[in-house]
Amino acid sequence: MAMARFLIIGASGFIGQHLLRQLGPEQCLGTYAHTPFDGGIHFDPTLIDPDQFLDLYGHVEQIYLLMAVSSLITCANDPQGSYAINVEASKAIALWCKKHQIPLLFTSSDAVFGGQQGLYDEQHIPTPLVTYGKQKREVEVFLQAHLPHLHTTVRLSKTYSSNPQDKTLLSAWVRAWQQQQPIMCATDQRFNPIHVEDAVVGMQQLMAGQHRGLYHLCGPTPVDRYQLLLDLQECYEQQLGPLPSWQVKACLINELGLAETWPIDISTRIDKLLATIPLHPRTPQQGCQQLIQAIVAERSC
Ligand SMILES: NC(=O)c1ccc[n+]([C@@H]2O[C@H](COP(=O)([O-])OP(=O)(O)OC[C@H]3O[C@@H](n4cnc5c(N)ncnc54)[C@H](OP(=O)(O)O)[C@@H]3O)[C@@H](O)[C@H]2O)c1
Repeated sequence: MAMARFLIIGASGFIGQHLLRQLGPEQCLGTYAHTPFDGGIHFDPTLIDPDQFLDLYGHVEQIYLLMAVSSLITCANDPQGSYAINVEASKAIALWCKKHQIPLLFTSSDAVFGGQQGLYDEQHIPTPLVTYGKQKREVEVFLQAHLPHLHTTVRLSKTYSSNPQDKTLLSAWVRAWQQQQPIMCATDQRFNPIHVEDAVVGMQQLMAGQHRGLYHLCGPTPVDRYQLLLDLQECYEQQLGPLPSWQVKACLINELGLAETWPIDISTRIDKLLATIPLHPRTPQQGCQQLIQAIVAERSC
């Protein structure tokens, strides 16, 4: 195999698998911790020192740091365990990149915002409410202080796909309808979900153009979670007929019994991103259409 150009830490995850395909598996090395995949390299910073591991891959041109305890609920329930990965190991990897002058892309989140205001841009100083958001913010600040010209941080919003088989935002709702399961859906949550294929193209373009610093890599417009559910319902019924079930309970986000107070309006502006790279992220309504078309295509096979 030719020398790989890119190292994806956390390649076994949802976004990592899409990024691997986008960058070209022949050009990438990718790590997993608990979910092996073909060609994947085992790496768990709780078992091996990141420096020792990374010294084996010092020839790569760019490192994409996707590794995370990515569940907000797990972070709330296990702040120390998640801190070890989301903050300590991430900082260690960043310092290794600094030492070897290898550009780093870090995946942060719109959960850094407190959600009182909405339409946040990159200038806004975040005040996170949830443990996961605090951890992401700590790494953002660290990167800005220690690798100002070597890091690209992307704040992703809820990332989904058009694959009926996965359990991301839209496909999970369709599955619940098909399996006659209840859906609790917040009426007050506002955000800018992004399609995973747009997210990985955005990451690739930012890194290829050597655009450093902080970017919101989110969908083009804010949506209300409950309205998005209704949009998906409309799309489903137009193309597939009546829903198989509708056990939807509308509630407020902080009535869901979550371990921490959740931010309400974490909608973002992506003007900086649009002015920097030639990316036109699809709207979640377009994402709904594509998901339903994929279901139609599956049924006709
Ligand atoms: N998906 C979203 O909606 C979203 C939104 C905002 C930000 N992000 C951020 O984007 C990045 C990728 O998200 P994702 O959805 O792809 O997450 P994911 O599916 O949960 O994948 C997380 C990755 O981190 C690895 N990982 C977890 N614990 C590890 C450990 N102890 N040692 C080494 N690796 C470990 C996982 O490996 P194994 O699976 O092999 O254990 C996996 O490759 C994360 O940083 C996440 O916080 C995601």
